[in-house]
Amino acid sequence: MKELLQVLTPGERDWRIASSLDPKRLPAHIAIIMDGNGRWARQRNYPRIMGHKAGVDPVRTVVETCAQLGLEALTLYAFSVENWKRPRHEIEGLWRLLRFYLRRELPNLMRNDIQLVAIGRLESLPAQVQTELQSVMNKTAQNRGMRLNLAINYGGRTELVDAVNAMLDNARLEGNLDALEITQEGIAEHLYTAGLKDPDLLIRTSGEMRISNFLLWQIAYAELYVTDTLWPDFTRTELLEAISNYQQRERRFGGLTRSAVLEPAAIVLEQEQLEAPLAG
Ligand code: FPP
Repeated sequence: MKELLQVLTPGERDWRIASSLDPKRLPAHIAIIMDGNGRWARQRNYPRIMGHKAGVDPVRTVVETCAQLGLEALTLYAFSVENWKRPRHEIEGLWRLLRFYLRRELPNLMRNDIQLVAIGRLESLPAQVQTELQSVMNKTAQNRGMRLNLAINYGGRTELVDAVNAMLDNARLEGNLDALEITQEGIAEHLYTAGLKDPDLLIRTSGEMRISNFLLWQIAYAELYVTDTLWPDFTRTELLEAISNYQQRERRFGGLTRSAVLEPAAIVLEQEQLEAPLAG
């Protein structure tokens, strides 16, 4: 947080929003569904790939800002297992942009102490993309400032299938398949995000009210923030506004607010409702 305030100019809008944030209640992990690149391009009569190209700079902005805020993790949805249905030239354009991003951003990742980890079924990616991703993952492996997950060829359901299969494989290897117990902790430990806190805040751009198979397990209690802004237009200001909005939410994790705990049950329910036997 301190680091972000140092790079902002006192008095300017982002500085004012950042200074109003409670540093003790920042989300530890933000996840983002970067959507709307195609619409951004269509509005300008550009080919769709121009929308993806325009989407690279906001990636840099959010990565840098989240690192300067001191977040533990940021997860960006870059390519889903369903995105293979798109035309070949669009998919190839996305791989070119990803390789461009990796080359251009490596010095920034190092400077900001960011560890990049690609999550998803990486074995199906073109060989060159796999090699370059692996190289950046190796070079940033010792960075401890923030973990940046790039979800590529990612699907929430395939992640769960992979986690369960990994549990079965390990149990088979250790010869205790019969004793294998499936627990929430066990599943979480075998997800691509093992060891990370679950996202506190899930941001989706372009106004779509969908989860789109993203981090299905991990977002169980995430706060959702959907903005109409298309991804190429997403700015640092809007990221800070999303965090400010998150800080106004009351997170209950299925429990109650303090005032509701103190409320006497008899005021809410009639005596006979309280005394009536429960069905079943
Ligand atoms: C969704 O917009 C976006 C994607 C499928 C790709 C996201 C890629 C980038 C932001 C650029 C490069 C990424 C990195 C990590 C360097 P859409 O095409 O579905 O938009 P639409 O719904 O308006 O058609």
